[in-house]
This record gives sequence, C-alpha cells and structure tokens, in this order.
Amino acid sequence: MLTEKYPDEVNKILAKYPEDRKRSAIMPLLYLALRDNDHITNDVIRDIAAITGSSETQVEGVVGFYTLYHDEKGGKHYIQICTDLPCALRGADQFAEQAKDYLGCGFEETTADGKITLEHVMCLAACDKAPMFQLQNGKGIFYHENQDIESFKALVDELRSEADA
Ligand code: FES
Repeated sequence: MLTEKYPDEVNKILAKYPEDRKRSAIMPLLYLALRDNDHITNDVIRDIAAITGSSETQVEGVVGFYTLYHDEKGGKHYIQICTDLPCALRGADQFAEQAKDYLGCGFEETTADGKITLEHVMCLAACDKAPMFQLQNGKGIFYHENQDIESFKALVDELRSEADA
C-alpha cells in the first residue's frame, strides 16, 4: 500500500489539492507507484481509488489514457516513438520500421530478452525534431530527438548491456 510504503510522499501529494478535489492526485500517485513497480497492478488501482475517494474505474481510465502508465508487465525500458503526422512527414514511419527490425519486435511488444517494450505514441511536442522518441524507465523519462537508426542502435546496445538490477 502506498500509504504504508511512502506515507510522507502520499501526504505531500494530497496536500496540494483541496479536500474535495483529491481525484486530482491520481496521476502523481500513479507515478509514485511506478517507483518500484514496472506497471500498475490492480492492487495499486484499488489503493489509489481508496486514497483519492475515486472509483477503480476512474483510476483505470487515467491509466488507460496516458502512455506514461502501463497496466501490463512490459520491458525494463519503454521506447515510445512518435508516429503522429508531423513526425511521419519527417520520416518517423521509416525510422520506426528500422527500429522494429533492430529490436526484433513490433509495436506494443517486448524484446525477447525482456528489456525493451516498443510502442508508438501520439505527439510528444517535439514535432520539429523528428524522428524522436521518449525512453521511459525507473530512472525517469528521457527525450531523444533528431534520431536516426545509428543513434537508436547505440542507445539500444547501451540499454541491453546494462546489468540487471
Ligand atoms: S507529431 Fe511527433 S512530436 Fe509532435
């Protein structure tokens, strides 16, 4: 339970919102839950629903809407390539195909070594710097802009060579 694991953080987050607006704390609480979970479990959903006085469906709705949250186990790292129209006009689709080939998996799939899940996402607000993607993992979220397949391969090799924690 988040309140047992991180009581100070939970209280700090809740203190930012009026008593009758606790639902606004759903997103930061979900992010807190990802600190030591690679995905949002049903227990976490129940926990956050109870903390914020929301229904589980409301919490699930947030999890389902945002690419930041995952409700199924994925890789240690998520690589999320923007394939929205402005990026597509700058070669994102071709880049994405090359990325899939190099990883040996498709979108919404995880590499055989379990390290990387590849996803395609909508605009990440870096349209003029495509091809671009964000890397998401336990350390945070990192933008990689003006990419080509060589820079992508270098990053993937680095991630693959990391020792498992
Ligand atoms: S369309 Fe890809 S970052 Fe905006």
